[in-house]
Amino acid sequence: MNEYEPILLRNVGKPNVRQLDAYRATGGYEGAVRALAHTPDEVIDVVKRANLRGRGGAGFPAGVKWSFLPKERDITYLCVNADESEPPTFSNRVLMEEDPHQLLEGILIAGYATQATVAYLYMRAEFAEQFHIMQKALDEAYHAGYFGKNILNSGYDLECYIHRGAGAYVCGEETGLIESLEGKRGWPRIKPPFPAIQGAFGKPTVVNNVETLANLPHIIQRGADWFMGIGPEGSSGPKLFCISGAVNKPGCYEWSMDITVRDLIEDDRFGGGMRDGLKVKAVMPGGISMGILTADELDMKMDFSDPANYGLLGLGTSSAIVIDEHTDIRKVLRNVARFYAHESCGQCTQCREGTSWMYKIANRVERGLGRAEDIELLGQIPSKMGMMPGLSICGLSDGATFAIRTIVEKFRSELEGYVGSVDDEVVRIALEIAN
Ligand SMILES: Cc1cc2nc3c(=O)[nH]c(=O)nc-3n(C[C@H](O)[C@H](O)[C@H](O)COP(=O)(O)O)c2cc1C
Ligand code: SF4
Repeated sequence: MNEYEPILLRNVGKPNVRQLDAYRATGGYEGAVRALAHTPDEVIDVVKRANLRGRGGAGFPAGVKWSFLPKERDITYLCVNADESEPPTFSNRVLMEEDPHQLLEGILIAGYATQATVAYLYMRAEFAEQFHIMQKALDEAYHAGYFGKNILNSGYDLECYIHRGAGAYVCGEETGLIESLEGKRGWPRIKPPFPAIQGAFGKPTVVNNVETLANLPHIIQRGADWFMGIGPEGSSGPKLFCISGAVNKPGCYEWSMDITVRDLIEDDRFGGGMRDGLKVKAVMPGGISMGILTADELDMKMDFSDPANYGLLGLGTSSAIVIDEHTDIRKVLRNVARFYAHESCGQCTQCREGTSWMYKIANRVERGLGRAEDIELLGQIPSKMGMMPGLSICGLSDGATFAIRTIVEKFRSELEGYVGSVDDEVVRIALEIAN
């Protein structure tokens, strides 16, 4: 593997870097100053040329999303998505804890490019410490004139508020987030209209992920060509990767997107190999919603295109859970199914019913009470839950589909070995009640 110079995590471990002066000593806010000296359209153009793809899961190009805003508008909102509820993802948390001003600078640049009037940093409820870190940094940034009226004498005004969620996975979906921000239940909205046309409080709105925005100061300072030169075509720029589970060094690491799942597990600069000499059984490399890989599929590149070659939904949050050889795949199946059944908001029948039934069946299989036909049924339910844009209002059901279907498809023989042992229906029901 090539050498790599950290960009997003470059300040980790530097003294006092959460404070404005220390951040500025590393060149902080120079990107924002430079952006404010250009027109908003020029800033959008650089971000488009850099092909900065959203880091929140879908990989949609940020500059293109910004250009969907209507030309004539009075109020524009920027929502910064720090909900970060995808298991086992914690890269946004690391960015906010380690370098809060980098994110604030990114917010200022995106705010200026989109001519946002107000930016809301929407943080998941569990981020209590991170909330205080961000609020302190925001207060400092306001005091220094990076937020508020007439920022750095540019004539541009931007207010920024931190909004804390109440703890629901679906509030990370952009329209669920908007509903929650408006003080309602976090139910995703039917689209169209898309947020760029009618978002928060009925006004044009851009939703971007924390890591997406953290890239902006560097793109503005170092240029689109520099950014394009990092990593493979179509997946350019720095990327954060989380790894957890049965490895020696769980953590959040930065590299370009030519890294493979194997590198992430084995290389000493990342996961540092399997714990206690265990062997890999499976990996969920993009959060759990992208699906699962077997031990034979570790050469998958962690970029925006290769996951599809392995039957996965996408790169997702590029956060891997490594499952070791001794882990019972039924427990993985059950835990994953439980998550989606719990988090489905219930608006779409097939998601509400499908996730609940998948959990019920997975639970039965895990307890040794599965029927012979259960595995087939578990494979079929996801195929009826719909791919976006299609049958469901948001992508949660797609995530559930890929997670469950790939586990069933790739570990079918193991799962089949566990079912059908209790043939007598009466005995089975009695055992189920007793359990
Ligand atoms: C169920 C669900 C949960 C999501 N959770 C998050 C999240 O926690 N953080 C995030 O940035 N995007 C999340 N997304 C994706 C957002 O809807 C949206 O695509 C993203 O915030 C856009 O930012 P980006 O273009 O910068 O990636 C989620 C999507 C779905 C369907
Ligand atoms: S797909 Fe599921 S989570 Fe999303 S809106 Fe429909 S029911 Fe709610």
